[in-house]
Amino acid sequence: MNGDYKINDHAFDVVVVGAGGAGLRATFGMAAAGLSTACLTKVFPTRSHTVAAQGGMSAALGNMGEDDWRFHMYDTVKGSDWLGDQDSIEYMCRNAPAAVYELEHYGVPFSRTEDGRIYQRAFGGMTTHYGEGQAMRTCAAADRTGHAILHTLYQQALKHSAQFFIEYFALDLIMEEGECRGVIAIDMATGEIHRYRAKQVVLATGGYGRAYFSCTSAHTCTGDGNAMVLRAGLPLQDMEFVQFHPTGIYGAGCLITEGARGEGGYLTNSDGERFMERYAPNAKDLASRDVVSRSMTIEINEGRGVGDDADHIHLHLEHLGPELLEERLPGISESAKIFAGVDVTKAPIPVLPTGHYNMGGIPTNYHGEVVTLKDGDPDTVVPGLMAIGEAACVSVHGANRLGSNSLLDLIVFGRASALRAKEVIDPAEPIPSIKDNAGEATLDRLDKLRHASGARATADIRLEMQRTMQAHCAVFRTGDVMNEGVAKMAATAGSFDDVGTTDRGLIWNTDLIETLELENLLDQAVVTMDSAANRDESRGAHARDDLPDRDDENWMKHTLAWCDDKHKTTIDYRPVHSYTMTDDIEYIKPKPRVY
Ligand code: FUM
Repeated sequence: MNGDYKINDHAFDVVVVGAGGAGLRATFGMAAAGLSTACLTKVFPTRSHTVAAQGGMSAALGNMGEDDWRFHMYDTVKGSDWLGDQDSIEYMCRNAPAAVYELEHYGVPFSRTEDGRIYQRAFGGMTTHYGEGQAMRTCAAADRTGHAILHTLYQQALKHSAQFFIEYFALDLIMEEGECRGVIAIDMATGEIHRYRAKQVVLATGGYGRAYFSCTSAHTCTGDGNAMVLRAGLPLQDMEFVQFHPTGIYGAGCLITEGARGEGGYLTNSDGERFMERYAPNAKDLASRDVVSRSMTIEINEGRGVGDDADHIHLHLEHLGPELLEERLPGISESAKIFAGVDVTKAPIPVLPTGHYNMGGIPTNYHGEVVTLKDGDPDTVVPGLMAIGEAACVSVHGANRLGSNSLLDLIVFGRASALRAKEVIDPAEPIPSIKDNAGEATLDRLDKLRHASGARATADIRLEMQRTMQAHCAVFRTGDVMNEGVAKMAATAGSFDDVGTTDRGLIWNTDLIETLELENLLDQAVVTMDSAANRDESRGAHARDDLPDRDDENWMKHTLAWCDDKHKTTIDYRPVHSYTMTDDIEYIKPKPRVY
Protein backbone atom coordinates (compact mmCIF):
# COMPACT_ATOMS: atom_id res chain seq x y z
CA MET A 1 0.00 0.00 0.00
CA ASN A 2 1.14 3.55 -0.75
CA GLY A 3 3.00 4.71 2.37
CA ASP A 4 2.02 8.39 1.90
CA TYR A 5 -1.38 7.67 3.35
CA LYS A 6 -2.22 6.73 6.93
CA ILE A 7 -4.70 3.83 6.88
CA ASN A 8 -7.26 3.38 9.66
CA ASP A 9 -9.20 0.10 9.84
CA HIS A 10 -12.72 -0.33 11.25
CA ALA A 11 -15.29 -3.13 11.49
CA PHE A 12 -19.07 -2.78 11.76
CA ASP A 13 -22.08 -4.97 11.10
CA VAL A 14 -23.37 -2.29 8.73
CA VAL A 15 -21.89 0.75 7.05
CA VAL A 16 -24.35 3.24 5.54
CA VAL A 17 -22.88 5.67 3.01
CA GLY A 18 -24.88 8.90 2.89
CA ALA A 19 -26.93 10.76 5.51
CA GLY A 20 -29.92 12.10 3.57
CA GLY A 21 -33.46 10.90 4.29
CA ALA A 22 -32.85 7.30 3.19
CA GLY A 23 -29.40 7.02 4.79
CA LEU A 24 -30.53 8.37 8.16
CA ARG A 25 -33.70 6.25 8.24
CA ALA A 26 -31.60 3.17 7.50
CA THR A 27 -28.87 4.17 9.97
CA PHE A 28 -31.05 4.50 13.02
CA GLY A 29 -33.19 1.52 11.99
CA MET A 30 -30.07 -0.67 11.85
CA ALA A 31 -28.71 0.73 15.13
CA ALA A 32 -32.08 0.27 16.84
CA ALA A 33 -32.04 -3.37 15.66
CA GLY A 34 -28.89 -3.95 17.69
CA LEU A 35 -26.44 -3.91 14.77
CA SER A 36 -23.18 -2.01 15.12
CA THR A 37 -23.72 0.73 12.55
CA ALA A 38 -21.53 3.41 10.98
CA CYS A 39 -22.74 6.22 8.74
CA LEU A 40 -20.23 7.94 6.44
CA THR A 41 -21.28 11.23 4.91
CA LYS A 42 -19.48 13.80 2.77
CA VAL A 43 -21.51 16.68 4.24
CA PHE A 44 -22.86 17.28 7.73
CA PRO A 45 -26.08 15.17 7.87
CA THR A 46 -28.54 18.07 7.99
CA ARG A 47 -26.88 19.60 4.91
CA SER A 48 -27.71 16.53 2.79
CA HIS A 49 -29.78 17.31 -0.30
CA THR A 50 -33.02 15.98 1.28
CA VAL A 51 -33.04 19.30 3.14
CA ALA A 52 -34.03 20.97 -0.14
CA ALA A 53 -37.19 18.89 -0.72
CA GLN A 54 -40.12 21.26 -0.57
CA GLY A 55 -43.63 20.15 -1.46
CA GLY A 56 -44.11 17.00 0.60
CA MET A 57 -44.44 13.25 0.96
CA SER A 58 -47.28 11.29 -0.57
CA ALA A 59 -49.45 8.88 1.42
CA ALA A 60 -53.13 8.04 1.09
CA LEU A 61 -54.16 9.28 4.55
CA GLY A 62 -57.45 10.71 3.27
CA ASN A 63 -57.26 13.71 5.62
CA MET A 64 -58.52 16.20 3.04
CA GLY A 65 -60.96 14.03 1.07
CA GLU A 66 -61.40 10.43 0.05
CA ASP A 67 -58.26 8.40 -0.67
CA ASP A 68 -56.98 4.83 -0.80
CA TRP A 69 -53.46 3.41 -1.13
CA ARG A 70 -54.69 1.42 -4.17
CA PHE A 71 -55.43 4.72 -5.98
CA HIS A 72 -51.90 5.78 -5.07
CA MET A 73 -50.51 2.53 -6.46
CA TYR A 74 -52.45 2.97 -9.71
CA ASP A 75 -51.20 6.56 -10.13
CA THR A 76 -47.60 5.49 -9.48
CA VAL A 77 -47.79 2.65 -12.02
CA LYS A 78 -49.36 4.96 -14.61
CA GLY A 79 -46.87 7.74 -13.82
CA SER A 80 -44.03 5.25 -14.35
CA ASP A 81 -45.42 4.65 -17.87
CA TRP A 82 -45.63 0.99 -16.86
CA LEU A 83 -41.88 0.59 -16.39
CA GLY A 84 -42.17 0.45 -12.59
CA ASP A 85 -42.01 -2.93 -10.83
CA GLN A 86 -45.47 -3.43 -9.40
CA ASP A 87 -44.40 -5.59 -6.44
CA SER A 88 -42.19 -2.70 -5.25
CA ILE A 89 -44.87 -0.10 -5.99
CA GLU A 90 -47.39 -2.07 -3.95
CA TYR A 91 -44.88 -2.29 -1.09
CA MET A 92 -44.28 1.47 -1.14
CA CYS A 93 -47.90 2.66 -1.42
CA ARG A 94 -49.25 0.14 1.11
CA ASN A 95 -46.62 1.19 3.65
CA ALA A 96 -46.93 4.94 2.98
CA PRO A 97 -49.51 5.88 5.65
CA ALA A 98 -47.57 4.01 8.36
CA ALA A 99 -44.35 5.72 7.22
CA VAL A 100 -45.92 9.19 7.59
CA TYR A 101 -47.41 8.42 11.02
CA GLU A 102 -44.06 7.05 12.13
CA LEU A 103 -42.41 10.36 11.15
CA GLU A 104 -45.16 12.29 12.92
CA HIS A 105 -44.48 10.32 16.10
CA TYR A 106 -40.73 10.93 15.77
CA GLY A 107 -41.52 14.66 15.77
CA VAL A 108 -41.82 15.95 12.18
CA PRO A 109 -43.77 19.25 12.46
CA PHE A 110 -46.27 18.66 9.64
CA SER A 111 -48.66 21.51 8.77
CA ARG A 112 -52.15 20.93 10.16
CA THR A 113 -55.77 21.05 9.06
CA GLU A 114 -58.31 23.05 11.08
CA ASP A 115 -59.14 19.91 13.08
CA GLY A 116 -55.48 19.12 13.79
CA ARG A 117 -54.75 16.39 11.25
CA ILE A 118 -51.76 16.31 8.89
CA TYR A 119 -52.27 18.83 6.06
CA GLN A 120 -52.21 17.36 2.52
CA ARG A 121 -52.03 19.18 -0.80
CA ALA A 122 -52.65 18.29 -4.45
CA PHE A 123 -49.70 17.19 -6.60
CA GLY A 124 -49.40 16.23 -10.28
CA GLY A 125 -50.64 12.80 -11.32
CA MET A 126 -52.18 12.05 -7.90
CA THR A 127 -55.83 11.03 -8.45
CA THR A 128 -58.76 9.32 -6.76
CA HIS A 129 -60.75 6.43 -8.23
CA TYR A 130 -58.10 5.44 -10.76
CA GLY A 131 -57.83 8.73 -12.61
CA GLU A 132 -61.27 10.23 -11.92
CA GLY A 133 -60.70 12.97 -9.33
CA GLN A 134 -57.81 15.03 -7.94
CA ALA A 135 -56.32 13.52 -4.78
CA MET A 136 -55.04 15.64 -1.88
CA ARG A 137 -52.29 13.18 -0.95
CA THR A 138 -49.06 15.08 -0.37
CA CYS A 139 -48.31 15.54 3.35
CA ALA A 140 -46.55 18.85 3.86
CA ALA A 141 -44.64 20.86 6.42
CA ALA A 142 -45.33 24.20 4.65
CA ASP A 143 -42.87 24.12 1.71
CA ARG A 144 -39.94 22.90 3.82
CA THR A 145 -40.94 19.26 4.23
CA GLY A 146 -37.51 17.79 3.49
CA HIS A 147 -35.92 20.17 5.98
CA ALA A 148 -38.38 19.11 8.70
CA ILE A 149 -37.91 15.40 7.98
CA LEU A 150 -34.12 15.51 7.78
CA HIS A 151 -33.71 17.29 11.12
CA THR A 152 -36.08 14.87 12.84
CA LEU A 153 -34.30 11.84 11.40
CA TYR A 154 -30.90 13.13 12.48
CA GLN A 155 -32.21 13.60 16.02
CA GLN A 156 -33.49 10.01 15.96
CA ALA A 157 -30.15 8.76 14.68
CA LEU A 158 -28.34 10.54 17.52
CA LYS A 159 -30.70 8.93 20.00
CA HIS A 160 -29.48 5.50 18.90
CA SER A 161 -25.86 4.46 19.07
CA ALA A 162 -24.88 4.80 15.40
CA GLN A 163 -21.36 6.13 14.83
CA PHE A 164 -21.07 9.02 12.36
CA PHE A 165 -18.02 9.73 10.20
CA ILE A 166 -18.80 13.24 8.99
CA GLU A 167 -17.13 14.89 5.98
CA TYR A 168 -15.71 11.56 4.82
CA PHE A 169 -15.72 10.95 1.06
CA ALA A 170 -16.39 7.31 0.09
CA LEU A 171 -13.99 6.19 -2.65
CA ASP A 172 -14.79 2.59 -3.52
CA LEU A 173 -16.53 -0.59 -2.46
CA ILE A 174 -14.30 -3.40 -1.22
CA MET A 175 -15.41 -6.36 -3.33
CA GLU A 176 -14.00 -9.87 -2.90
CA GLU A 177 -15.23 -13.04 -4.61
CA GLY A 178 -18.35 -11.29 -5.91
CA GLU A 179 -19.33 -10.06 -2.43
CA CYS A 180 -19.23 -6.62 -0.96
CA ARG A 181 -17.05 -6.76 2.17
CA GLY A 182 -16.72 -3.08 2.96
CA VAL A 183 -15.91 0.39 1.74
CA ILE A 184 -12.88 2.68 1.64
CA ALA A 185 -13.09 6.43 2.30
CA ILE A 186 -10.96 9.52 2.81
CA ASP A 187 -11.39 11.87 5.76
CA MET A 188 -11.42 15.19 3.93
CA ALA A 189 -10.17 17.16 6.93
CA THR A 190 -6.97 15.13 7.39
CA GLY A 191 -6.48 13.17 4.16
CA GLU A 192 -6.29 9.95 6.18
CA ILE A 193 -7.74 6.80 4.63
CA HIS A 194 -10.36 4.71 6.42
CA ARG A 195 -11.15 1.11 5.50
CA TYR A 196 -14.42 -0.31 6.82
CA ARG A 197 -15.12 -4.04 6.94
CA ALA A 198 -18.83 -4.78 7.12
CA LYS A 199 -21.46 -7.47 6.71
CA GLN A 200 -23.57 -5.03 4.69
CA VAL A 201 -22.75 -1.77 2.95
CA VAL A 202 -25.79 0.42 2.23
CA LEU A 203 -25.41 3.03 -0.51
CA ALA A 204 -27.65 6.04 0.14
CA THR A 205 -25.63 8.47 -1.91
CA GLY A 206 -28.40 10.25 -3.87
CA GLY A 207 -28.64 11.22 -7.52
CA TYR A 208 -26.22 12.69 -10.04
CA GLY A 209 -28.06 15.86 -11.07
CA ARG A 210 -24.75 17.70 -11.42
CA ALA A 211 -24.05 15.87 -14.68
CA TYR A 212 -26.39 18.55 -16.15
CA PHE A 213 -25.83 22.28 -16.64
CA SER A 214 -29.10 23.34 -15.02
CA CYS A 215 -30.52 21.34 -12.13
CA THR A 216 -32.29 21.68 -8.82
CA SER A 217 -29.68 19.43 -7.19
CA ALA A 218 -27.02 20.59 -4.75
CA HIS A 219 -23.39 20.71 -5.93
CA THR A 220 -22.85 17.58 -3.84
CA CYS A 221 -25.22 15.49 -6.01
CA THR A 222 -22.55 13.61 -7.93
CA GLY A 223 -23.89 10.05 -7.62
CA ASP A 224 -20.77 8.74 -5.88
CA GLY A 225 -22.41 5.42 -4.95
CA ASN A 226 -23.59 4.81 -8.52
CA ALA A 227 -20.04 5.33 -9.76
CA MET A 228 -18.61 2.98 -7.12
CA VAL A 229 -21.05 0.33 -8.33
CA LEU A 230 -19.91 0.78 -11.94
CA ARG A 231 -16.27 0.53 -10.88
CA ALA A 232 -17.13 -2.68 -9.01
CA GLY A 233 -18.21 -4.19 -12.35
CA LEU A 234 -21.93 -4.05 -11.55
CA PRO A 235 -24.60 -2.44 -13.74
CA LEU A 236 -26.83 0.61 -13.31
CA GLN A 237 -30.44 0.43 -14.40
CA ASP A 238 -32.71 2.71 -16.50
CA MET A 239 -30.25 5.60 -16.53
CA GLU A 240 -31.90 7.13 -19.63
CA PHE A 241 -34.81 8.31 -17.49
CA VAL A 242 -33.96 11.76 -16.10
CA GLN A 243 -36.74 13.94 -14.78
CA PHE A 244 -36.96 17.66 -15.54
CA HIS A 245 -38.97 19.64 -13.00
CA PRO A 246 -41.18 22.18 -14.79
CA THR A 247 -40.52 25.03 -12.39
CA GLY A 248 -36.86 25.78 -11.80
CA ILE A 249 -36.24 29.53 -11.37
CA TYR A 250 -35.11 30.92 -14.73
CA GLY A 251 -31.35 31.46 -14.66
CA ALA A 252 -30.67 30.07 -11.18
CA GLY A 253 -32.28 26.62 -11.63
CA CYS A 254 -33.43 26.35 -8.01
CA LEU A 255 -36.71 24.69 -7.25
CA ILE A 256 -40.15 26.25 -7.04
CA THR A 257 -42.22 23.44 -5.60
CA GLU A 258 -44.97 21.73 -7.56
CA GLY A 259 -46.93 22.43 -4.36
CA ALA A 260 -47.20 25.99 -5.73
CA ARG A 261 -49.40 24.64 -8.52
CA GLY A 262 -51.02 22.26 -6.01
CA GLU A 263 -52.16 25.34 -4.07
CA GLY A 264 -53.66 26.87 -7.25
CA GLY A 265 -50.71 28.41 -9.13
CA TYR A 266 -50.74 28.27 -12.94
CA LEU A 267 -48.46 28.76 -15.95
CA THR A 268 -48.87 31.26 -18.80
CA ASN A 269 -47.11 31.97 -22.10
CA SER A 270 -46.37 35.34 -23.78
CA ASP A 271 -50.04 35.64 -24.84
CA GLY A 272 -51.05 35.32 -21.20
CA GLU A 273 -52.67 32.00 -22.13
CA ARG A 274 -52.99 29.16 -19.60
CA PHE A 275 -51.56 26.80 -22.20
CA MET A 276 -51.68 23.62 -20.08
CA GLU A 277 -55.43 23.55 -20.74
CA ARG A 278 -54.58 22.72 -24.36
CA TYR A 279 -52.00 20.00 -23.63
CA ALA A 280 -53.69 18.28 -20.68
CA PRO A 281 -57.38 19.25 -20.60
CA ASN A 282 -58.07 17.17 -17.49
CA ALA A 283 -55.03 17.57 -15.27
CA LYS A 284 -53.97 20.98 -16.70
CA ASP A 285 -51.12 22.49 -14.62
CA LEU A 286 -51.05 19.37 -12.45
CA ALA A 287 -50.32 16.93 -15.26
CA SER A 288 -47.27 14.77 -14.59
CA ARG A 289 -43.91 16.51 -14.77
CA ASP A 290 -42.79 15.08 -18.10
CA VAL A 291 -45.99 16.38 -19.72
CA VAL A 292 -45.72 19.88 -18.20
CA SER A 293 -41.98 20.22 -18.94
CA ARG A 294 -42.50 19.15 -22.52
CA SER A 295 -45.47 21.49 -23.03
CA MET A 296 -43.47 24.44 -21.68
CA THR A 297 -40.59 23.59 -24.00
CA ILE A 298 -42.94 23.44 -27.01
CA GLU A 299 -44.39 26.86 -26.10
CA ILE A 300 -40.89 28.35 -25.97
CA ASN A 301 -39.72 26.60 -29.15
CA GLU A 302 -42.80 27.87 -31.01
CA GLY A 303 -42.09 31.48 -30.01
CA ARG A 304 -44.53 31.88 -27.14
CA GLY A 305 -41.97 32.11 -24.34
CA VAL A 306 -41.88 35.21 -22.11
CA GLY A 307 -39.07 37.68 -21.37
CA ASP A 308 -36.72 39.62 -23.66
CA ASP A 309 -35.45 36.44 -25.28
CA ALA A 310 -38.84 34.68 -25.21
CA ASP A 311 -37.05 31.81 -23.47
CA HIS A 312 -39.03 31.06 -20.34
CA ILE A 313 -42.56 30.81 -18.88
CA HIS A 314 -44.50 32.60 -16.12
CA LEU A 315 -45.75 30.91 -12.95
CA HIS A 316 -48.56 32.91 -11.28
CA LEU A 317 -49.19 32.86 -7.56
CA GLU A 318 -50.34 36.50 -7.09
CA HIS A 319 -54.02 35.51 -7.01
CA LEU A 320 -53.48 33.18 -4.02
CA GLY A 321 -53.14 36.14 -1.66
CA PRO A 322 -50.42 37.05 0.86
CA GLU A 323 -51.91 35.04 3.73
CA LEU A 324 -51.91 31.70 1.95
CA LEU A 325 -48.47 32.37 0.48
CA GLU A 326 -47.11 33.20 3.93
CA GLU A 327 -48.64 30.11 5.53
CA ARG A 328 -48.15 27.45 2.85
CA LEU A 329 -45.39 28.69 0.55
CA PRO A 330 -43.03 30.85 2.62
CA GLY A 331 -39.83 29.17 1.39
CA ILE A 332 -40.44 29.60 -2.32
CA SER A 333 -41.67 33.18 -1.75
CA GLU A 334 -38.22 33.88 -0.31
CA SER A 335 -36.40 31.98 -3.10
CA ALA A 336 -38.33 33.93 -5.77
CA LYS A 337 -37.31 37.20 -4.10
CA ILE A 338 -33.64 36.22 -3.78
CA PHE A 339 -33.08 34.47 -7.11
CA ALA A 340 -35.54 36.24 -9.44
CA GLY A 341 -36.14 39.56 -7.64
CA VAL A 342 -39.88 38.82 -7.70
CA ASP A 343 -42.46 39.61 -5.03
CA VAL A 344 -44.81 36.66 -5.53
CA THR A 345 -47.78 38.57 -4.15
CA LYS A 346 -47.47 41.00 -7.07
CA ALA A 347 -45.76 39.39 -10.06
CA PRO A 348 -45.29 35.99 -11.75
CA ILE A 349 -42.10 33.96 -11.26
CA PRO A 350 -39.97 33.32 -14.40
CA VAL A 351 -39.50 29.55 -14.64
CA LEU A 352 -37.96 26.91 -16.92
CA PRO A 353 -37.79 23.07 -16.81
CA THR A 354 -34.69 22.07 -14.87
CA GLY A 355 -32.97 18.71 -14.20
CA HIS A 356 -34.44 17.35 -10.98
CA TYR A 357 -34.36 13.60 -10.43
CA ASN A 358 -32.76 10.39 -11.65
CA MET A 359 -35.24 7.56 -11.98
CA GLY A 360 -32.34 5.25 -12.83
CA GLY A 361 -29.71 3.97 -10.44
CA ILE A 362 -28.52 0.83 -8.68
CA PRO A 363 -30.99 -2.02 -9.29
CA THR A 364 -32.50 -3.42 -6.09
CA ASN A 365 -35.43 -5.48 -4.85
CA TYR A 366 -37.91 -3.96 -2.39
CA HIS A 367 -35.80 -5.05 0.57
CA GLY A 368 -33.06 -2.70 -0.64
CA GLU A 369 -30.76 -5.56 -1.71
CA VAL A 370 -28.72 -4.84 -4.84
CA VAL A 371 -29.51 -7.22 -7.69
CA THR A 372 -27.80 -8.00 -10.95
CA LEU A 373 -28.17 -10.20 -14.00
CA LYS A 374 -26.08 -13.32 -13.44
CA ASP A 375 -26.20 -16.69 -15.21
CA GLY A 376 -29.56 -15.72 -16.73
CA ASP A 377 -31.14 -14.77 -13.37
CA PRO A 378 -32.08 -11.05 -13.45
CA ASP A 379 -32.78 -10.91 -9.71
CA THR A 380 -29.50 -12.29 -8.38
CA VAL A 381 -28.72 -10.60 -5.06
CA VAL A 382 -25.20 -9.17 -4.69
CA PRO A 383 -24.17 -10.37 -1.20
CA GLY A 384 -23.32 -7.64 1.29
CA LEU A 385 -24.61 -4.70 -0.77
CA MET A 386 -27.77 -2.60 -0.46
CA ALA A 387 -28.87 0.64 -2.09
CA ILE A 388 -31.72 2.98 -1.16
CA GLY A 389 -33.14 6.39 -2.03
CA GLU A 390 -32.36 8.21 -5.28
CA ALA A 391 -29.19 6.13 -5.72
CA ALA A 392 -31.35 3.03 -6.07
CA CYS A 393 -33.67 1.90 -8.86
CA VAL A 394 -36.18 -0.32 -6.98
CA SER A 395 -37.94 0.40 -9.46
CA VAL A 396 -40.93 2.29 -8.06
CA HIS A 397 -40.67 5.28 -10.39
CA GLY A 398 -40.08 3.46 -13.68
CA ALA A 399 -39.79 5.95 -16.53
CA ASN A 400 -41.09 8.95 -14.58
CA ARG A 401 -41.53 9.74 -10.90
CA LEU A 402 -44.61 11.46 -9.50
CA GLY A 403 -43.88 14.49 -7.33
CA SER A 404 -43.80 13.69 -3.58
CA ASN A 405 -43.11 10.00 -4.18
CA SER A 406 -39.41 10.64 -3.55
CA LEU A 407 -39.55 11.52 0.16
CA LEU A 408 -41.83 8.50 0.50
CA ASP A 409 -39.33 6.24 -1.31
CA LEU A 410 -36.52 7.44 1.02
CA ILE A 411 -38.40 6.63 4.19
CA VAL A 412 -40.12 3.40 3.12
CA PHE A 413 -37.00 1.80 1.63
CA GLY A 414 -34.63 3.19 4.28
CA ARG A 415 -36.82 1.38 6.80
CA ALA A 416 -37.12 -1.73 4.58
CA SER A 417 -33.33 -2.06 4.37
CA ALA A 418 -33.08 -1.93 8.18
CA LEU A 419 -35.76 -4.60 8.51
CA ARG A 420 -33.92 -6.80 6.01
CA ALA A 421 -30.55 -6.27 7.69
CA LYS A 422 -32.06 -7.33 10.99
CA GLU A 423 -33.25 -10.56 9.31
CA VAL A 424 -30.04 -11.47 7.53
CA ILE A 425 -27.32 -10.25 9.92
CA ASP A 426 -26.40 -12.11 13.09
CA PRO A 427 -24.50 -9.64 15.32
CA ALA A 428 -22.82 -12.60 17.03
CA GLU A 429 -21.16 -13.76 13.77
CA PRO A 430 -17.65 -12.44 13.02
CA ILE A 431 -17.35 -9.61 10.47
CA PRO A 432 -15.78 -11.01 7.26
CA SER A 433 -12.07 -10.40 6.76
CA ILE A 434 -10.61 -8.47 3.82
CA LYS A 435 -7.25 -8.87 2.08
CA ASP A 436 -4.33 -6.94 3.59
CA ASN A 437 -4.01 -4.89 0.43
CA ALA A 438 -7.77 -4.27 -0.01
CA GLY A 439 -8.25 -0.83 -1.53
CA GLU A 440 -4.75 -0.65 -3.08
CA ALA A 441 -6.07 0.11 -6.57
CA THR A 442 -8.28 2.83 -5.11
CA LEU A 443 -5.31 4.47 -3.39
CA ASP A 444 -3.36 4.35 -6.65
CA ARG A 445 -6.25 6.11 -8.42
CA LEU A 446 -6.46 8.74 -5.69
CA ASP A 447 -2.73 9.36 -5.70
CA LYS A 448 -2.60 9.63 -9.48
CA LEU A 449 -5.29 12.30 -9.46
CA ARG A 450 -3.65 14.20 -6.58
CA HIS A 451 -0.49 14.47 -8.68
CA ALA A 452 -2.15 14.76 -12.12
CA SER A 453 -0.42 17.32 -14.31
CA GLY A 454 -2.48 17.14 -17.52
CA ALA A 455 -3.59 20.10 -19.60
CA ARG A 456 -7.32 20.03 -18.87
CA ALA A 457 -8.75 21.69 -15.73
CA THR A 458 -11.41 19.78 -13.78
CA ALA A 459 -13.85 22.70 -14.17
CA ASP A 460 -13.43 22.76 -17.97
CA ILE A 461 -14.13 19.06 -18.40
CA ARG A 462 -17.10 19.35 -16.03
CA LEU A 463 -18.61 22.27 -17.94
CA GLU A 464 -18.20 20.45 -21.26
CA MET A 465 -19.96 17.38 -19.82
CA GLN A 466 -22.79 19.47 -18.35
CA ARG A 467 -23.40 21.36 -21.60
CA THR A 468 -23.38 18.14 -23.64
CA MET A 469 -25.87 16.44 -21.33
CA GLN A 470 -28.13 19.51 -21.34
CA ALA A 471 -28.09 19.78 -25.14
CA HIS A 472 -28.23 16.09 -26.06
CA CYS A 473 -30.00 14.23 -23.26
CA ALA A 474 -32.65 16.54 -21.78
CA VAL A 475 -36.38 17.11 -22.45
CA PHE A 476 -36.31 16.76 -26.25
CA ARG A 477 -34.53 13.79 -27.75
CA THR A 478 -34.10 12.41 -31.26
CA GLY A 479 -31.82 9.68 -32.53
CA ASP A 480 -29.55 12.21 -34.27
CA VAL A 481 -29.34 14.52 -31.25
CA MET A 482 -28.50 11.63 -28.94
CA ASN A 483 -26.00 9.96 -31.26
CA GLU A 484 -24.14 13.24 -31.52
CA GLY A 485 -24.23 13.36 -27.71
CA VAL A 486 -22.80 9.82 -27.48
CA ALA A 487 -19.76 10.86 -29.53
CA LYS A 488 -19.29 14.10 -27.60
CA MET A 489 -19.58 12.43 -24.20
CA ALA A 490 -17.10 9.72 -25.22
CA ALA A 491 -14.60 12.44 -26.19
CA THR A 492 -15.16 14.42 -23.00
CA ALA A 493 -14.85 11.34 -20.78
CA GLY A 494 -11.71 10.30 -22.69
CA SER A 495 -10.16 13.71 -22.06
CA PHE A 496 -10.18 12.97 -18.32
CA ASP A 497 -6.90 11.09 -18.95
CA ASP A 498 -5.41 14.54 -19.48
CA VAL A 499 -6.84 16.15 -16.32
CA GLY A 500 -4.59 18.37 -14.23
CA THR A 501 -4.93 19.22 -10.54
CA THR A 502 -2.97 21.89 -8.69
CA ASP A 503 -3.33 21.16 -4.97
CA ARG A 504 -0.95 18.37 -3.91
CA GLY A 505 -1.91 18.54 -0.21
CA LEU A 506 -4.05 16.22 1.86
CA ILE A 507 -5.83 18.67 4.18
CA TRP A 508 -9.19 19.78 2.76
CA ASN A 509 -8.02 19.20 -0.80
CA THR A 510 -11.23 20.29 -2.53
CA ASP A 511 -9.42 20.31 -5.88
CA LEU A 512 -8.89 16.55 -5.47
CA ILE A 513 -12.43 15.90 -4.18
CA GLU A 514 -14.00 17.81 -7.09
CA THR A 515 -11.85 15.82 -9.50
CA LEU A 516 -12.95 12.53 -7.91
CA GLU A 517 -16.57 13.73 -8.14
CA LEU A 518 -16.06 14.62 -11.80
CA GLU A 519 -14.69 11.15 -12.49
CA ASN A 520 -17.84 9.74 -10.87
CA LEU A 521 -20.11 12.01 -12.90
CA LEU A 522 -18.40 11.21 -16.20
CA ASP A 523 -19.11 7.47 -15.98
CA GLN A 524 -22.75 8.18 -15.16
CA ALA A 525 -23.09 10.74 -17.94
CA VAL A 526 -21.69 8.25 -20.48
CA VAL A 527 -23.99 5.49 -19.29
CA THR A 528 -27.00 7.86 -19.32
CA MET A 529 -26.23 9.10 -22.83
CA ASP A 530 -25.62 5.60 -24.21
CA SER A 531 -28.71 4.11 -22.54
CA ALA A 532 -30.84 6.96 -23.94
CA ALA A 533 -29.50 6.57 -27.49
CA ASN A 534 -30.20 2.85 -27.25
CA ARG A 535 -33.92 3.07 -26.32
CA ASP A 536 -35.94 3.23 -29.53
CA GLU A 537 -39.25 4.46 -28.16
CA SER A 538 -40.79 7.23 -26.04
CA ARG A 539 -41.67 6.38 -22.45
CA GLY A 540 -42.09 8.71 -19.47
CA ALA A 541 -39.24 11.18 -19.26
CA HIS A 542 -37.53 9.64 -22.31
CA ALA A 543 -39.53 11.50 -24.98
CA ARG A 544 -38.23 11.15 -28.55
CA ASP A 545 -39.53 13.46 -31.26
CA ASP A 546 -38.64 10.94 -33.95
CA LEU A 547 -40.24 7.95 -32.16
CA PRO A 548 -43.15 9.45 -30.20
CA ASP A 549 -44.93 6.18 -29.29
CA ARG A 550 -44.40 3.83 -26.40
CA ASP A 551 -43.44 0.39 -27.69
CA ASP A 552 -44.49 -2.18 -25.09
CA GLU A 553 -43.78 -5.09 -27.36
CA ASN A 554 -40.07 -4.41 -27.63
CA TRP A 555 -39.23 -2.03 -24.79
CA MET A 556 -41.19 -3.07 -21.72
CA LYS A 557 -37.87 -3.88 -20.07
CA HIS A 558 -35.29 -2.27 -17.81
CA THR A 559 -31.99 -1.22 -19.33
CA LEU A 560 -28.88 -2.49 -17.56
CA ALA A 561 -25.63 -0.69 -18.38
CA TRP A 562 -22.07 -1.56 -17.37
CA CYS A 563 -19.14 0.78 -17.92
CA ASP A 564 -15.48 -0.25 -18.18
CA ASP A 565 -12.43 1.80 -17.21
CA LYS A 566 -12.20 3.16 -20.77
CA HIS A 567 -15.77 4.55 -20.44
CA LYS A 568 -17.18 1.91 -22.83
CA THR A 569 -20.69 0.74 -21.99
CA THR A 570 -22.26 -2.68 -22.38
CA ILE A 571 -26.04 -2.88 -22.42
CA ASP A 572 -28.40 -5.73 -21.46
CA TYR A 573 -31.89 -5.92 -19.96
CA ARG A 574 -33.97 -7.09 -17.00
CA PRO A 575 -37.67 -7.86 -17.34
CA VAL A 576 -40.15 -5.49 -15.67
CA HIS A 577 -41.86 -7.34 -12.79
CA SER A 578 -45.30 -8.05 -14.20
CA TYR A 579 -46.65 -9.17 -10.84
CA THR A 580 -47.62 -7.59 -7.56
CA MET A 581 -46.41 -8.32 -4.03
CA THR A 582 -49.58 -9.95 -2.68
CA ASP A 583 -52.34 -12.12 -4.16
CA ASP A 584 -55.08 -9.65 -3.21
CA ILE A 585 -53.76 -7.01 -5.64
CA GLU A 586 -54.00 -7.55 -9.38
CA TYR A 587 -51.29 -6.55 -11.84
CA ILE A 588 -52.32 -3.25 -13.51
CA LYS A 589 -52.22 -3.81 -17.27
CA PRO A 590 -50.61 -1.18 -19.51
CA LYS A 591 -52.96 1.42 -20.99
CA PRO A 592 -52.40 4.07 -23.63
CA ARG A 593 -51.48 7.51 -22.31
CA VAL A 594 -54.35 9.97 -21.69
CA TYR A 595 -53.67 13.29 -20.00
O1 FUM B 1 -41.95 20.19 -6.38
C1 FUM B 1 -41.53 19.68 -5.35
O2 FUM B 1 -41.81 20.07 -4.23
C2 FUM B 1 -40.69 18.48 -5.50
C3 FUM B 1 -41.10 17.36 -4.96
C4 FUM B 1 -40.57 16.09 -5.47
O3 FUM B 1 -39.75 16.09 -6.39
O4 FUM B 1 -41.00 15.04 -4.98
